[in-house]
Amino acid sequence: MTEVIIVKNEDEAGEIYANCVAGLIKRKPNAVLGLATGSSPLAAYKALAAKVKAEHIDVSQVRGFALDEYLGLPLSHPESYHSTIHRTVVEPLGLDPAKVHVPGDVLNGAPLEDGDKIAAAGPAYDAAIEAAGGIDVQILGIGTDGHIGFNEPGSSLASGTRVKTLAEQTRIDNARFFDNDINQVPTHCITQGIGTVLKARHLVLLAFGAGKAEAIEETIEGGVSAFCPASALQLHPHATVIIDEEAASRL
Ligand code: GLP
Repeated sequence: MTEVIIVKNEDEAGEIYANCVAGLIKRKPNAVLGLATGSSPLAAYKALAAKVKAEHIDVSQVRGFALDEYLGLPLSHPESYHSTIHRTVVEPLGLDPAKVHVPGDVLNGAPLEDGDKIAAAGPAYDAAIEAAGGIDVQILGIGTDGHIGFNEPGSSLASGTRVKTLAEQTRIDNARFFDNDINQVPTHCITQGIGTVLKARHLVLLAFGAGKAEAIEETIEGGVSAFCPASALQLHPHATVIIDEEAASRL
């Protein structure tokens, strides 16, 4: 079931996420959080960090799994999702860095030619999530084309974590993080599959602004289709979509 919550702004959405996750950590101190990069979750991480601090919530046992990573960037690159997750989530929340995983961690910039190593990384990541008991709350952003993680349109709804080619549009969108030079944007990524995402017990998708309105309409009111990967949320028993009025404008 998909519940849709329309909020005034990102801060209000962030409060809803923070209340949900803070409650979870109090009930389950070693909760498993599914983490995402992008601008949409930033206010949510900020609100959660403030709550953790204000209420002295013990997060020392909390575990985390990120959605995706570029291939070919060393972990230390400031735009690697490893660096981004550590900068935006691990440090502000005070999580134990050893308990937070990003799909490309084992690859650390391995060249694309290292096929066997790269092919093994996806199934190993899914196995690690399962060994942790599965993800309790997965936060998600959405691409303007409806992608979640780096599952571009056409991705199998049953997919596991695997290597993908980045869509040209996504590379153009993300060039802003690479000196506006598309040649610096990696061509490949490793991403949790849509099937992996659907295994999380609760999904929280955040989207703000008119640029996301069409993708949100497809996600909520379109049919379930690989052409809008986020529409797979309709198959999930507990999905919460938190959006502002602009993102909701086509509903
Ligand atoms: C990237 C990430 C996605 C994210 C999307 C939207 O492609 N891989 O996980 O949801 O961007 O980003 P934003 O929230 O900045 O709009």
